[in-house]
Amino acid sequence: MSSSSSTTSPPFPVPDGFKLHTENNAHILMSENEAFLNPVQEFNRDLSVACIRTWSEELNKAKDAKRAQTRQKRALRAKEESAKKRQRVNESDAIDIEPESLQQSESTSEIPQAESKEDAKVEFSAKPEASLHYKITILEALSATGLRSIRYAKEIPLVKYVLANDLSSTAVAAMKRNVELNGLGPSKELEEAGSAKQAKNLGKIRVNEGDACALMYSHRTDRVDVVDLDPYGTAAPFIDAAVQAVKDEGLLCITCTDLSILATNNYPEKCFSNYGGLPLKAEYSHEAALRLVLHATSTSASRYGRYIEPLLSLSIDFYVRLFIRVNSSPYQVKKALLKTSSYFVCTSCQSFYEQPLGRVVEKQGSRENVNTIYKTQPGPTVGGKCPECESGLHIAGPMWSGPIHDTDFVSKVLQHTESHKDLYGTASRMQGMLTVAKEELHTKFYFTPTKIAGFFHCQTPSLEETTSALLHAGHQVSRSHASPGSLKTTGTCEDVLDVFRSWVKKHPIKNVSETSPSLRLLAKEPRMEANFSKHPKSVTSSSKVKIVRYPETPANWGPGSRPATGGGNKRKRKHDN
Ligand SMILES: C[S@@+](CC[C@H](N)C(=O)[O-])C[C@H]1O[C@@H](n2cnc3c(N)ncnc32)[C@H](O)[C@@H]1O
Ligand SMILES: [Zn+2]
Repeated sequence: MSSSSSTTSPPFPVPDGFKLHTENNAHILMSENEAFLNPVQEFNRDLSVACIRTWSEELNKAKDAKRAQTRQKRALRAKEESAKKRQRVNESDAIDIEPESLQQSESTSEIPQAESKEDAKVEFSAKPEASLHYKITILEALSATGLRSIRYAKEIPLVKYVLANDLSSTAVAAMKRNVELNGLGPSKELEEAGSAKQAKNLGKIRVNEGDACALMYSHRTDRVDVVDLDPYGTAAPFIDAAVQAVKDEGLLCITCTDLSILATNNYPEKCFSNYGGLPLKAEYSHEAALRLVLHATSTSASRYGRYIEPLLSLSIDFYVRLFIRVNSSPYQVKKALLKTSSYFVCTSCQSFYEQPLGRVVEKQGSRENVNTIYKTQPGPTVGGKCPECESGLHIAGPMWSGPIHDTDFVSKVLQHTESHKDLYGTASRMQGMLTVAKEELHTKFYFTPTKIAGFFHCQTPSLEETTSALLHAGHQVSRSHASPGSLKTTGTCEDVLDVFRSWVKKHPIKNVSETSPSLRLLAKEPRMEANFSKHPKSVTSSSKVKIVRYPETPANWGPGSRPATGGGNKRKRKHDN
């Protein structure tokens, strides 16, 4: 399935002045400047349907398992109690029984326990019950045309209802019309049936006109299962409300399109005010963008005794999209300090040096218990100049330094996509991205051989040669979804540069000026001779994937601009797009 702006046979008459847009089996009518729709974001919507669907199925499995465990415990307790009761009865009978009846009672006690009436009852109740199908509620805080909410309501089987909200009155009018066209609004028959039934007749999509934060704050006590933030530009102003509106084990889905702030160092002051950390200038700045959004979300959640688990964090085209599980635990909140780091980044060779913010020490308490004490990290972890090339270093972060994906979750979304290719117009791209994300190492940042070879002014070793050299040296290597031709490794920046220093010995460089930074890189001898022969592990599923980072570029490619009328975002700032 895929999207189209006009179909050969529209499912309903298209009024004059409107265009029909169809994505999967969701249909919306669009008129000029009424509400915002970016058709290029179909990939974002496809991915979101697949992630929420997979997450809701996993949530149901976890709830079923928990219920079965409770039933089993209860059954065991009841069994023990009935055994105790039987024992008490036997003991009291034994006090005044005659020798013959004692004989009789002994033979009765040989009856297997489960055959007693009480136990039969207990065993029956311990049987697994059918899944109760816990149905989820979704709050889409910035819905525009309502297309995303309509797709969620139609395509995710375990949806109870979707709350679709927008600040703009024209967007809300369009949304109401679109929701009705798709048969997801309040039922007309029930509306006519009188007020008693009407009270419950809210429809599968409940449209709300208002400020996203006000709506989310109103759900602080009556929480929802999923909150989706898909704004123009930054999601930063909505994160504080969102982390409080989502239930424990709930899912937070965040889009940010302000990559000029998150992934360049053109506006560090803006990045700091929005995300509480500084961006960096290096080819891996898109991974830093993901880590900055995670940092903002983690610190917001921590204020309310909540912590985050990133399930899938992707840098896609002109935006980032993150799927984050939120939970409550004061113990885990403390650990957020251990998942936060700043980085010193070389302005010349892009080597980075991690400066963790905190550490934990364990001290033996007076009795058996071990006390966990949180401390600050000593630093700096590097001197004033880059140890590899003597250039200056710039600070970046603080940002999230923990894993950005949950490999198990990514595998499940990938499995779902592979077995439901017909459901998604962008299935092959989803498959590619998810395959790479699934194999991604949980290390910080990535590099491309082309870029590093550029620093040395040398011929570029192939991906296979670079991967093999690192593997032969005992490091692990994977791809990164964030950039085609990129590699992540457990080796340090020095290990990577040593591979290139070794490469240059075999492929000498010519005509380099005396002031070139490459000479400073080459002034250091490699600590080993790299082996570039093919390593058996240099080919993985993800190395066969050709990531379509920028798909074919339609005329309206990019974050899109807001409609000219209809209120919209009063929070727009200069650099938001
Ligand atoms: C990028 S569009 C949303 C696109 C939509 N999620 C989709 O998938 O098609 C952003 C929407 O946010 C709305 N908006 C901006 N500020 C808002 C606020 N404070 N509260 C609610 N809606 C807001 C705008 O009117 C606009 O319709
Ligand atoms: Zn350097």
